Amino acid sequence: MPHPDIPLPRLIAHRGLSAHAPENTLSAVRAAHAAGFTWVELDVQLLGDGTPVIWHDANIRRCSDGRGRLSDLDLAAARRLDAGSWFGDAFLGERMATLGEMLALLDELEMGVNLELKVNRGRDPRALVEAALPPVREALPPARCVVSSFNDTALARARALAGPETLALGVLYEAIGRDWRRHCEPVQAFSVHADWRRLKQSRVREVVEAGYRLLCYTANDPAAFAPRWQWGVEAVISDDPARFVGHLPDA
Ligand code: G3P
Ligand code: MG
Repeated sequence: MPHPDIPLPRLIAHRGLSAHAPENTLSAVRAAHAAGFTWVELDVQLLGDGTPVIWHDANIRRCSDGRGRLSDLDLAAARRLDAGSWFGDAFLGERMATLGEMLALLDELEMGVNLELKVNRGRDPRALVEAALPPVREALPPARCVVSSFNDTALARARALAGPETLALGVLYEAIGRDWRRHCEPVQAFSVHADWRRLKQSRVREVVEAGYRLLCYTANDPAAFAPRWQWGVEAVISDDPARFVGHLPDA
């Protein structure tokens, strides 16, 4: 299928520049931009009141001063949380970002995003897509956005909403299994995203020869990762992508 022509960078900052700022926050995206990175990977899911927010875990414990499930919060309760001081005093008072706020920042900074539709256990993939996808498509040009998920239902709903040509969808895998095509073909995927530690060269060849762009997460060791560039990996999603500068293949 025709896809938007997306000039992906080699390096994408995972959850923003999460080695140097609290993950999935506005500060983490500003830090990625300040460090010279043009794309970030972020996770989106819904609060209990249906507001899409940028958050990874099902729980709020690890990345805020609160306790409990994200799905038990409404926006007012989410706003009261401190989502920065767990990472460092410099980030005291950082708030959980709504998708709308994050899209405004990405637009302002002219950054690209790999937005992961994060379907944690028990959550409704369709509701997530229906709330999150329209504002993304409104805010960002197709060439600056790849929407990815481990969840086939979310990907299928996104493709159904977007139609055939203007949305790049990425299929997330841990290991890319023998039957990888059955996740990509029904949603007319643009890209395959895999755990770099579980990558096999023969499977990479299949993916690349089939015309899919291949991205790897979450690589933080450029020396260990190095052989995989030659296999055909296009981009690395890293918590600390600056480590890879000077260790990239020639363009
Ligand atoms: O999108 C790549 C990567 O972020 C997937 O895993 O758990 O970090 O969201 P996770
Ligand atoms: Mg993610």
